[in-house]
Amino acid sequence: MRLPIILINYKVYDNSFGNKAIELAKKIEKISREYSVEIILAVPATMIYRISQEVNLPIYAQHVDPVPLGAHTGAIPPELVKDAGAKGTLINHSEKRIRADEIDDILKRIRNLGLESVLCVDRYELVFPFGLLKPNAILIEPPELIGTGISVSKAKPEVITKAVDEIKKAKGVYLIAGAGISTGEDVFKAIELGAQGIGVASAVMKAKEPEKVVEDFVINALKAMGKF
Ligand code: G3P
Repeated sequence: MRLPIILINYKVYDNSFGNKAIELAKKIEKISREYSVEIILAVPATMIYRISQEVNLPIYAQHVDPVPLGAHTGAIPPELVKDAGAKGTLINHSEKRIRADEIDDILKRIRNLGLESVLCVDRYELVFPFGLLKPNAILIEPPELIGTGISVSKAKPEVITKAVDEIKKAKGVYLIAGAGISTGEDVFKAIELGAQGIGVASAVMKAKEPEKVVEDFVINALKAMGKF
């Protein structure tokens, strides 16, 4: 993972799959190249293979099922997303939670597979205990702000600053902030508050010109890190 971490969660919007999803990934790849910034795309499981074949960006799964290989109809365990081309995965997103013991088990498995992990938490109190499980990064997102366009940086800056204090105790785990990030200013502020990157979905996926939004976010992330 390279800083700043820019993670775009495709979720399952009408442009998250099929050719529209690939076109978007190509536009984002162009920005990634132009600014020499790594941009992670967390895409639907059905799109991991296609998108990872088309672009040179780290492609993540949005979720992996914490079940062993075997008789589990419909399950997508981490071995399968790796085989499809994923470089990593989100775990425990607010829209796809799993139990704490499952998080611990799946993180060990993901590490053994050589995949990266971004573990989502909904409150700063979980940053240190979940940080002890050693994901590559923790993404903190107050669920009540997700998809609202009201950013965590502006509405709940204390969530980021407290999470930043907590992550330091875990050592060696990055902290990313998300929920409602809509403008370059939101991105700048999140990093200024101490986050090492941002997670975003709706501001990009629902934009008329998503590439402009992504470019603005990248520039602001670089500026906040003194790299632009
Ligand atoms: O994983 C990031 C996501 O939950 C944030 O969603 O729409 O508030 O940017 P959004």
